[in-house]
Amino acid sequence: MNIAPFALERYFSRHEFTARYLLSCSDCEALTLPELLARADAGTRGLWDSLKLTYTDTAGHPLLREAIAEIYTGIDARDIVVAAPEELIFLLMHALLEPGHHVITTAPAYQSLHEVARSIGCEVSMWEPDEGRGWSFDLDRLETLLRPDTRLLVVNFPHNPTGHLPSGDAFAALLELARARGIYVLSDEMYRFLEHAPATTLPSACELYARAFSLFGLSKSFGLPGLRIGWLVSRQADVLRKVLELKDYTTICNSAPGEILAIMAVRDRDDIFAGHRARLQTNLAVLDRFFADYADCFSWHRPAGGSICFPRMLIDAEASAFCDALVERAGIMLVPSSLFQFGERHVRIGYGRDDLAQVIDRFAACLDEHYR
Ligand SMILES: Cc1ncc(COP(=O)(O)O)c(C=O)c1O
Repeated sequence: MNIAPFALERYFSRHEFTARYLLSCSDCEALTLPELLARADAGTRGLWDSLKLTYTDTAGHPLLREAIAEIYTGIDARDIVVAAPEELIFLLMHALLEPGHHVITTAPAYQSLHEVARSIGCEVSMWEPDEGRGWSFDLDRLETLLRPDTRLLVVNFPHNPTGHLPSGDAFAALLELARARGIYVLSDEMYRFLEHAPATTLPSACELYARAFSLFGLSKSFGLPGLRIGWLVSRQADVLRKVLELKDYTTICNSAPGEILAIMAVRDRDDIFAGHRARLQTNLAVLDRFFADYADCFSWHRPAGGSICFPRMLIDAEASAFCDALVERAGIMLVPSSLFQFGERHVRIGYGRDDLAQVIDRFAACLDEHYR
């Protein structure tokens, strides 16, 4: 397999456990094990206490899939495959795509959303947003990218890294374009339920369109990335079967403790999401103040959902050089847009962690000292 290194993940592996301050993480503050166990109902606590560390069901623990199905309308446990989110992107693309297929992906993007397709030998077109219009993705622009041989459309809302969220009408229209042409859709919904305005949560693509695959999991909205549990939901039984056949060559099944802990989290999801959304609101107020005070250094579009945003640098420096200097001078890790193969003018700020205000203060001090 000829696949390019995952630039963002390589960067994280270099800095995530050595930099003193992290200003670019996309996950919400992680729960501790005792905090999660305290949320368990008696039945799930019993499963945990009597857990035998055997292999588990390849598709995912039946009780976990039943709990996940409750998140969706018109979906049951058979429509779900559980695996690590990143693994599911890899498996689905290998199940669906062949060399020569045409794929369209929202971009900038989490790299695997286009790189896996490219490594298979697909031609990939990037559907880029309009920064001047709040990073919105224009459907007319999508239509110009569609081809008779387009096999798969990959979208990600709330969007990593801009935090853009389309309206319900725009999302439905997008799926309609795919439906009219019989194109499969991979809808990466990893940041779902982190919308900042009530009632802006989109329906899941798998609820609206039979050829859609919705990806969700514990890593972002639940604040449990260390469990390595995600799920793919679709009514395409044949494709899911192929995904399971491929999974026999990656992990075979999920970690048994991870699955039981996942049941606890999914059953208590509303309360977990509410806690993370409250922290995001507090942190957005910090960012509002910061971007007002440093309007000479950055411009931004306030994100509508998720835990990240993508401000433009007005500072006279390339984003990658700026971020290198920042980690060296101030111990602050910030992700430059070059890691999204999106030029040198933006940085990604993550605001899902408890220490955001403290890290922003240090960031501001560094800007004062070196860039103003
Ligand atoms: C949009 C998106 N999809 C998928 C993933 C993969 O999730 P995980 O790292 O939990 O496998 C990420 C992680 O950052 C992401 O941002």
